[in-house]
Amino acid sequence: MAYDEAARPDTSVVLNVRAAPGHATYEHEGAPRIEALNLAVAATAPHDPGGSVAEAALQGLLAASKTLPPALFYDEEGCRLFYEITRLPEYYLTRTEFRLLQSTAPEVAAELPPGATLVEYGASDETKAETLLRQTVRSGSATGKPVFRTYIPIDVAEPELRAMRDRLAQRRPELTVTPVTADFLRPIPLPERDSDSAIMGFFPGSTIGNLEPEAAVAFLHRARLSLGWGARFLLGFDTCRDPERLVPAYDDPAGVTAAFNRNLLVRLNREAGATFDPEAFAHRAVWNPIESRIEMHLVSREAQTVIVAGQPVRFARDETIHTENSYKYAQPRMREMAAAAGWSLTKKWSDSNDLFALWLLD
Ligand code: TRP
Repeated sequence: MAYDEAARPDTSVVLNVRAAPGHATYEHEGAPRIEALNLAVAATAPHDPGGSVAEAALQGLLAASKTLPPALFYDEEGCRLFYEITRLPEYYLTRTEFRLLQSTAPEVAAELPPGATLVEYGASDETKAETLLRQTVRSGSATGKPVFRTYIPIDVAEPELRAMRDRLAQRRPELTVTPVTADFLRPIPLPERDSDSAIMGFFPGSTIGNLEPEAAVAFLHRARLSLGWGARFLLGFDTCRDPERLVPAYDDPAGVTAAFNRNLLVRLNREAGATFDPEAFAHRAVWNPIESRIEMHLVSREAQTVIVAGQPVRFARDETIHTENSYKYAQPRMREMAAAAGWSLTKKWSDSNDLFALWLLD
């Protein structure tokens, strides 16, 4: 598959999602409390706080097919609402992935020699990584030693990275943590490391589904280049393409996802001098079987004109703002994408309902 780095559309702006500040906890039936799950949804350009929220919004709203950059979802209230989403009974994704990671981490770790390095893309907390970091060598002379000696979390959120490093320094003093503050969708120079230690990239959170397929391949290819030959890569992605399960996960009866979607408009009112009536837009989640993705929309309930940063934006009745995509990949398609990026599949796991896949690539 050919792709052109420069051709990546500006609208592929996604950002890093965090659990609500103050370290939320995640719980579900019968499971231990999990501290601040890594809710990474990450992707491109972190928003330049210097007034560009209005610019980014207007660019999308004045286009023929209206869009808003998904990065705008994750202000403080957006992070809180997304955290609520991960606890909804209908939103099976976060807990399915976490359980799968817990059960497969020993097998993944068994593939690596002791002293390995873990590089996590879009790591706003260590909860998912810790399923791997706590693994110890099970046979040979190094028995009982941690498999991973070094952890390199990459994220745009510097305060979160620092807090994570401090927590890990307390909890795992023998682990070297070298955070990198960067947007993982751009080329990232990794810190110097022991060149003969094994290295594994880690991209959980089904974040890959929020990228356009070309951007996903470009990301995997860049990771291939920066991790180097001989590296492994642990990739998580959603495989369920059943609209009966997906639509409620993205349009829950309690209306949390609707509030999350409309929060974009609330944010524009506050930060971009906009005059949206959020209730004049309906939340809609639709399964697009041709593109194999869930699309999130805000649909104008009536013909209306809204002012954004001094500019009128006109909506016809039923006109939509397309706010997000979440691609769901059949395994053969993901295999092609990984291959196009220079990776081959060595091992794969999925949950008992075949909703989520974890792949070990090399
Ligand atoms: N990464 C999440 C997903 O695609 C993000 C998400 C969940 C989301 N629900 C949403 C994004 C609703 C926009 C609107 O599953």
